[in-house]
Amino acid sequence: MKTILKYVILIGVSSTYAYITEEGWGEPLIALANSLHNKCVPITGVTQASIDQVKEGNFIEDEKMKRYVLCLWLVSEVISEKFELNTEIFKLLPKKLQDGHNIIGCTKKINGTDVSELYEKTYSVTKCIQKANPDEFIMF
Ligand SMILES: *[C@@H]1O[C@H](CO)[C@@H](O)[C@H](O)[C@H]1NC(C)=O
Repeated sequence: MKTILKYVILIGVSSTYAYITEEGWGEPLIALANSLHNKCVPITGVTQASIDQVKEGNFIEDEKMKRYVLCLWLVSEVISEKFELNTEIFKLLPKKLQDGHNIIGCTKKINGTDVSELYEKTYSVTKCIQKANPDEFIMF
């Protein structure tokens, strides 16, 4: 994972095309989402088709997609490699999600399972959040 993070820093914010324009998202969240997307796509080699599948709640068995999701969680620093949450970032979320209830509930739940790979864990957490409330699910 260290290598991945180093790689992220090297790539930096090279491309800044506007990818995300979701309704109800504040400017800071859109900026963060774009920046994460632009970093994590080249690192993981995930396809847009895979991301679109997950956006629709179809959690495909695709290792690149799983690593993409892990990249989003880690690079945004919402979750650490030790699976500790940083609730500061919740402030950027749309109003009704700011208490982070689904994120907290799902990380706690998955944290206790014996899944070893971090990318499997964060994928399970993401799936859990989507299941808890598909209408409030965010993927980009
Ligand atoms: C997950 O477990 C670790 C180790 O017990 C703990 O430090 C961390 O805070 C837990 N994370 C969550 C979100 O409960």
